[in-house]
Amino acid sequence: MENKVTVPRIIEAKSNREKIVAITAYDWAMARLVDAAGVDIVLVGDSVATTSLGYETTLPVTMDAMIHHAGAVSRGVGRALVVADMPFMSYHLDDREGVLNAGRFLKEAGCQAVKLEGGSARAALVEEMISLGIPVMGHLGMTPQSVHVFGGHRQQAREEQAADRLMEDAVALQKAGAFALVLELIPHSLAAEVTRTLHIPTIGIGAGPDCDGQIQVLHDLIGLIPEQQFRHARRYLNGGELIQQAVSQYAEEVRQNRFMRKAAGS
Ligand code: KIV
Repeated sequence: MENKVTVPRIIEAKSNREKIVAITAYDWAMARLVDAAGVDIVLVGDSVATTSLGYETTLPVTMDAMIHHAGAVSRGVGRALVVADMPFMSYHLDDREGVLNAGRFLKEAGCQAVKLEGGSARAALVEEMISLGIPVMGHLGMTPQSVHVFGGHRQQAREEQAADRLMEDAVALQKAGAFALVLELIPHSLAAEVTRTLHIPTIGIGAGPDCDGQIQVLHDLIGLIPEQQFRHARRYLNGGELIQQAVSQYAEEVRQNRFMRKAAGS
């Protein structure tokens, strides 16, 4: 994909059989780097709660915190489509509140779309958002905001009935106007079937190679949390170790009074 990535370009990518590359980012500096690397979608994930804010789950992150991070990411991205995650309880109880919160991501943070978790139960809300000019990406399967219902981060839709329900949810979100769908931790064969059935793209994470695109959490990809290694994640860099080594070297040079001499080139 060339030039500025738009929602229609993401949908077109599927018919052109171009794989969609998506990644998360949570701040300006990283957003600039991933954008320069040529990804198509930068998601300001509510995973910011676990990757950057030190929480155990995504549940505690607030709308204000998401707006803060989404604004920073938007300012760092020139080409990719910036999508912001609607946090837990920002759209669950009241559609009007959900629409107002989604609108904040476009109005205050400069994002181009939002993502929310859930299927048919969210279809009316998705339709309302789209009618007001807010593009929506869906998210099905292992939806982390329901981690306590699932009893952990485990593969979903393994049984036939659950798989049928996921397919119905996917079709309902497409009908409501969602422009793409994240499929997280579901059987690869089901992800392939959903991908074949829908005309909007599927973006997989732990959902196999047949999705129209893939999304990864940046911190997993570059190893910023060395002790965390998920089966669905692929590490391309031991970034955590490299950063720690660099800072240790700095500390050593300061303590040996070599730092300023080196910095000054003497
Ligand atoms: O919050 C997040 O990072 C996500 C991706 C894992 C899809 O929702």
